[in-house]
Amino acid sequence: MSRRAQFLEVLGIPTEWVPRKPMGAPQDAAAEPDRPAVVLAESEAIAESVLAPEAAEAQAPVAVALVPELEDPAPSPSIAEPARTASVPDREAAIATMGWPALDAAVAACTACGLCETRTNTVFGVGDREAEWMLVGEAPGENEDLQGEPFVGQAGKLLDNMLGSLGLARGRNVFIANVLKCRPPGNRNPEPAEVAQCEPFLKRQIALVRPRVIVVLGRFAAQSLLRTATPIGKLRGTVHSYEGIPVVVTYHPAYLLRTLTDKARAWEDLCLAREVHDRAGAQA
Ligand code: URA
Repeated sequence: MSRRAQFLEVLGIPTEWVPRKPMGAPQDAAAEPDRPAVVLAESEAIAESVLAPEAAEAQAPVAVALVPELEDPAPSPSIAEPARTASVPDREAAIATMGWPALDAAVAACTACGLCETRTNTVFGVGDREAEWMLVGEAPGENEDLQGEPFVGQAGKLLDNMLGSLGLARGRNVFIANVLKCRPPGNRNPEPAEVAQCEPFLKRQIALVRPRVIVVLGRFAAQSLLRTATPIGKLRGTVHSYEGIPVVVTYHPAYLLRTLTDKARAWEDLCLAREVHDRAGAQA
């Protein structure tokens, strides 16, 4: 069976079919519902320490919503809590110099936002730390919180199958991480301030892995990483860039489990990612 046929089988598409719209065209209402992007803002806050942001001075919140009319304007109590609003320039600078062991420890000990109070485990990320492929999801869910590993539920199984079709496997030649390292309780949407506090960790992971291509899974991760409010349907099909590394956007596997109609599009996205990966390899 060809790799293409194998992939389509994994996605549950018995016969190949043509997407209703060309790649990059706006999606219909059944596509991942678009909600406001989280856009990080430079914070002026000064902190005393990376690992003990509680000791930091009270400062303004560090993130804003790009589309405030769609976002609840009232910050949650955890965001508003001044003791947690930590440290941005110093903290970010410190994280940006960490090696893997320090980064691992910093994530495990992080109390920079209120999610530390409800998590069971932090979910650092998993896989080959020198991988040519990196996948970025949104945030841990219940299973991930319990096991401390990203994408271990049903969506993770689909993800593993999709990776397999590309000759990739977690723990072997891909690194998988999330925008948030802690589970938002009840699987609620991540808050802008939570993303702002967590982003330096992801940024450092990406800098350490130095993948040839980043595949971003789902609207939330895509809009957060690329700092945009553009709908996922428009982000797909184009190669973006994060810190100089090519980024390809596709649908979140949990969404694909529910939406047969977009599975063929996910295949197209991964084909694009493979092209980008191979091109980067040829240039290396
Ligand atoms: N969804 C995500 O975005 N990440 C996970 O780790 C699990 C589910």
